[in-house]
Amino acid sequence: MVAAVSSPVPKSADAVVIEATDLRRHYTVRLGLLRGTATVRAVDGISFTLRSGKTLAVVGESGSGKSTLARLVTLIEPPTGGTLRLMGQDPITASPVERRELRKAVQMVFQDPYGSLNPRRKVGAILEEPLIINAKKMTAAERRDRGLAMLAAVGLRPEHYVRYPHMFSGGQRQRIAIARALMLNPRLVIADEPVSALDISIQAQVLNLMMDLQERFNLAYLFISHDLSVVQHIADDVMVMYLGKPVEHGGKEAVFTRPRHPYTMALLAATPRVDPSQRINPQIVKGELPSPLSPPKGCAFHTRCPFAKERCKAEVPVMRPVDGRLAACHFAEEIAQ
Ligand SMILES: Nc1ncnc2c1ncn2[C@@H]1O[C@H](COP(=O)(O)OP(=O)(O)OP(=O)(O)O)[C@@H](O)[C@H]1O
Ligand SMILES: [Mg+2]
Repeated sequence: MVAAVSSPVPKSADAVVIEATDLRRHYTVRLGLLRGTATVRAVDGISFTLRSGKTLAVVGESGSGKSTLARLVTLIEPPTGGTLRLMGQDPITASPVERRELRKAVQMVFQDPYGSLNPRRKVGAILEEPLIINAKKMTAAERRDRGLAMLAAVGLRPEHYVRYPHMFSGGQRQRIAIARALMLNPRLVIADEPVSALDISIQAQVLNLMMDLQERFNLAYLFISHDLSVVQHIADDVMVMYLGKPVEHGGKEAVFTRPRHPYTMALLAATPRVDPSQRINPQIVKGELPSPLSPPKGCAFHTRCPFAKERCKAEVPVMRPVDGRLAACHFAEEIAQ
């Protein structure tokens, strides 16, 4: 049994955990002394719903806005536009007490299992720290019980409790980071490239563990990765992003087996570990990712799209229903033929 920590917000099996509507985060950056400023639209109009027990995978190349989205959902930064509701609450209008409860309910696992654990503290102290800060009524014995229980939940042994992070492998360290994220009984875990730094053989173990924990604790995952092959088992829904905007979003099955946006097709084609029968289009994404400081007019993907036509250079495509998912392509139906 895992020692109880009162859940900040009541749990229901399929409660909406994140509701994002046209979420935006723009940054103003200085270009240099005489060149003034420019706007980076790091997140530029993202809408989605995530429910308890489900995983939304957010996929895209470097610079597509994935980590910025993670910082918005973890309340590290406020959005510059749109609305975000967590567990039905708007963090901006929430009281300080409600905000603190929301922060407990949303925990994060990072890419780097070396940098994210304090090397000078033993595993037990790392795990108990969130309780010392947030569960002040717990006794030392109760904290230790819960720490040991979470250590067991991630597949590590009691003797690991008194060891230092450097004594573990990368996969074990990521297990410790996951255990720490679960100490406060969160509703939602934001995992930003959680297995990207691990060997492929270890990746599968950590992903399986995450899926077990999801079922056991009814967790919602916002799972960020640049690699489609990593999300193909864990995801329920997949959102593909390009330069801050979603280009395709739907159930995993639809997105993987019948992609309807040329960018998704190109990503799948470039992902060797995805089932070859699903790599329906041999096109690899050509050319460089455009500068986020001056994204192309019209469809931001048109400069790299093998199907681009005049309309794509002029008119921004919006997300619209196409064959059972949302896609932002003027010619999604034609391309599918
Ligand atoms: N604080 C900031 N100030 C200015 N620009 C920023 C800031 N944070 C992010 N950006 C820009 O926003 C865009 C999205 O960055 P972000 O880190 O969210 O991408 P990402 O998808 O996580 O990329 P990666 O796969 O490399 O982690 C990039 O162009 C980045 O340079
Ligand atoms: Mg990132």
